[in-house]
Amino acid sequence: MSLDPNLPPSEIENLLAEDRTFPPDPDFTAQANATVDLYAQAEADPEAFWAALARERIDWAEDFHTTLEWDLPFARWFIGGKLNIAYNCVDRHVERGLGDKVAYHWIGEPGDTRRITFADLQREVSRAANALIELGITTGDRVAIYMPMIPELPIAMLACARIGAPHTVVFGGFSAEALSDRINDAEAKLVITADGGWRRGKPAALKPAVDDALAMTTSVTHTLVVRRVGDAVDGGTAMVEGRDVWWHDIVDRQDDRHDPVPLDSEHMLYLLYTSGTTAKPKGIMHTTAGYLLGTSFTHEQIFDIKPDDVYWCAADVGWVTGHSYIVYGPLANATTSILYEGTPDTPDWSRWWQIIEDYKVSILYCAPTAIRAHMKQGPQYAQAHDLSTLRVLGSVGEPINPEAWLWYHEHIGGGRAPIVDTWWQTETGMIMITPLPGVTTTKPGSATFPFPGVGADVVDGEGNPVPLGSGGYLVLTRPWPAMLRGIYGDPERYRQTYWSRFPGMYFAGDGARRDADGYLWLLGRVDDVMNVSGHRISTIEVESALVDHKAVAEAAVVGKTDPITGQAIFAFVIPKVGVEANDALAAELRNHVAKAIGPIAKPKFLMFTPDLPKTRSGKIMRRLLRDIGEGRQLGDTTTLADGGVVEAIRASSGSAEE
Ligand code: WTA
Repeated sequence: MSLDPNLPPSEIENLLAEDRTFPPDPDFTAQANATVDLYAQAEADPEAFWAALARERIDWAEDFHTTLEWDLPFARWFIGGKLNIAYNCVDRHVERGLGDKVAYHWIGEPGDTRRITFADLQREVSRAANALIELGITTGDRVAIYMPMIPELPIAMLACARIGAPHTVVFGGFSAEALSDRINDAEAKLVITADGGWRRGKPAALKPAVDDALAMTTSVTHTLVVRRVGDAVDGGTAMVEGRDVWWHDIVDRQDDRHDPVPLDSEHMLYLLYTSGTTAKPKGIMHTTAGYLLGTSFTHEQIFDIKPDDVYWCAADVGWVTGHSYIVYGPLANATTSILYEGTPDTPDWSRWWQIIEDYKVSILYCAPTAIRAHMKQGPQYAQAHDLSTLRVLGSVGEPINPEAWLWYHEHIGGGRAPIVDTWWQTETGMIMITPLPGVTTTKPGSATFPFPGVGADVVDGEGNPVPLGSGGYLVLTRPWPAMLRGIYGDPERYRQTYWSRFPGMYFAGDGARRDADGYLWLLGRVDDVMNVSGHRISTIEVESALVDHKAVAEAAVVGKTDPITGQAIFAFVIPKVGVEANDALAAELRNHVAKAIGPIAKPKFLMFTPDLPKTRSGKIMRRLLRDIGEGRQLGDTTTLADGGVVEAIRASSGSAEE
């Protein structure tokens, strides 16, 4: 992440005023897992707080002797302890009589389903672990996983964890080149993949990308291939003799028992690569015990998990939300989850709501981009389904605009389910800033307060805390159990990237403001902050003002070089379905922003577009929009979810300048 040295280190302007509040419902509070005294308890002695939880929640093969060793910026948690995370996620539940409880209700996009209990999971994971051993994988070897959202994906991750082979999951949507970069950096020995997956009604082949990637790598000895789409892939799937093995050929014949290997607390559990905009991707390292504690405890408290909940995190397992809140956190808590292979619009926009009705889903966790996509279509799809089982809603991945929050609250949560807007990162491993349902009075668009035990602050350019009511840089002020342990193979880059901007503090790369009541409002990446006539304006505030207008489904805002003001605001706007986009509407939207947050934030350029460039995890790629705005050639597009989008934007009617 780079801070623009040309920008003054001043704070970020505080423009958007949102003063609606939603206090917890007393009935919810009465049954809530979280209680208000957690904050004081954690604050009194954070290390003791985490240590007690670690002993209570984790089944240890050997107890730890030291809670934390903090050699800034290098942390080690629960030193001396030994455990196996797959045992903690699967076997111990079976031993305690939960073998028949469903771990995953899996739903394939074409409508096929699988019901996988904890006992099934124990057998499947054990077989897969035995197959890995047969393929020559031992504790410490790295395994790349490149799969669609099928049950074998979490099974493969758990099998790796069971033998202590760190996995690195690569999004199924990434290119062969992105895959080979990650294989090379991790020096992975094995790739677990599938012939393909179903997406928008069509089979999408995956294995050819693995073949291409392997032409650019030397470390891989085998691939293990799940048959998912079978003959639906044109020409079938080519298998290289001696290298490629079908999952059903090798896994299915293994012994369904395997003794989990006790591993060090600090044994590397996985690497997950985050793409920088230009530099080579960073392999974020997560280890075992602290990560297990951080994800399971936050999951239980923030989503108010009860034994009979049906929980659905509608993210992709290939990004950190899936690692922490589809796989490790929920399984550690013996939670029943939904795992859905496809997209929300297949066969139509009712798909999610149908799943919620069919499976009586009680907790939904998704990204604002998905909520806005549903908003764009209108509430009629949700209204046609029984969503009354939903009792907690979550949001992650981006700031949620107040309008999207209110829509989610009203149309999905029936005005009753509390919303938890959770801020965190691949690097933090666990949710760091969030309301606690039943405890926190929420404000639409605010992630509210740090989780108990987490230290967070908003500082100015010199690292001094900003007063209430102003904006600055979000920092984390003390180590936490699920924190990244570094960047794989590059400790210096780790120090430089996260710990050098403000000495002694972890700089997250995000801007934030703290309102008069101390609530935290995330403002997006500081690289996205615009500088208009010396005012530092966050993109999210202008976007939220646009989305606040009834004609707008989604908006993205970037700065465009301007001879007079330094940067001028360029807005890309997706109108709601059925709205006519014309110059009169553009003028109206500009005035709407000026009225909502002030004339300084009025977009100089406004362009209607059918879609926006996004990453596979749903984040808007403002970098590409800046390229379009400046009329530049596009930068790296490997992480773009849909390559056609940029062309579609370029082909749109051109931008209307004021
Ligand atoms: C952004 C995703 C505002 C933020 C778990 C962060 C958010 C980046 C929120 C990390 C939120 C995530 N409100 N912004 N609730 N959650 N972000 O690594 O900019 O894919 O730094 O992890 O997403 O993205 P990552």
